[in-house]
Amino acid sequence: MAEPRHRYSTVSLILHWLIAALVVTQIGLIAGHELTEGPMSREFIGAHKSVGLSILVLTLARLGWRIANPALPLPEAMPRWEKLLARGTHVLFYVFLIAMPLVGWAASSAAGRDIVWFGLFQWPLLPVGGGREMAGNLMDVHELAGKLLIALVILHVAGALKHHFITRDNVLHRMLPFIRRRP
Ligand code: HEM
Ligand code: HEM
Repeated sequence: MAEPRHRYSTVSLILHWLIAALVVTQIGLIAGHELTEGPMSREFIGAHKSVGLSILVLTLARLGWRIANPALPLPEAMPRWEKLLARGTHVLFYVFLIAMPLVGWAASSAAGRDIVWFGLFQWPLLPVGGGREMAGNLMDVHELAGKLLIALVILHVAGALKHHFITRDNVLHRMLPFIRRRP
């Protein structure tokens, strides 16, 4: 029988931590947008859109990788409800990290606002009509999803820390291999 893997593949690790850093960046960019005014504030939104669309592309790539390379099994000692909670959170991350940028993109498209990816090229707009009213409705969805995503991140990080400091297993090690593996 093949030796069980002790950690996620390098591609999975890079995608996990890169996307996590970009999600945190998104919250920072929104805070920057809210704390400033005028052209500076618009710069923050421009960057928020570019980072958001990058998250969409990276998450789709990650989903493809994940389908080709299934996740490691969770520890056998973990109760069933905890496994369901952990896996449910992971599935919801994929759903949110695909749906949120799509909704933001659709809102910008409905409002006819150009998207220029990091000032480099014009990102195509989606064929969404409805003008500012539709854009407003889509932004309400985007805002609610943002709150739910933050709640998911808190739950996920709490779970990771619980594994490391309370259950004292190797779940955090396999996503953060420079942490020493427990025997
Ligand atoms: C916005 C931030 C984050 C997002 C969106 C995120 C998303 C995810 C997703 C989707 C998975 C499932 C991997 C897969 O099977 O595809 C995962 C696994 C994992 N994440 Fe995160 N993560 C974030 C931040 C963090 C942080 C800060 C920690 C540590 C404190 C962490 C620790 C872990 C661990 C240990 C696993 C592995 C669980 C397992 O072995 O099955 N994550 N994360
Ligand atoms: C995973 C990717 C994304 C995340 C996590 C995210 C998150 C957020 C959050 C938390 C807010 C603040 C909502 C509020 O409380 O008012 C926001 C606002 C906004 N987002 Fe995103 N977003 C993402 C992608 C995008 C994309 C791709 C676009 C457009 C192409 C976009 C456009 C906007 C706009 C226009 C606002 C409103 C800013 C304002 O005027 O207050 N977002 N986003």
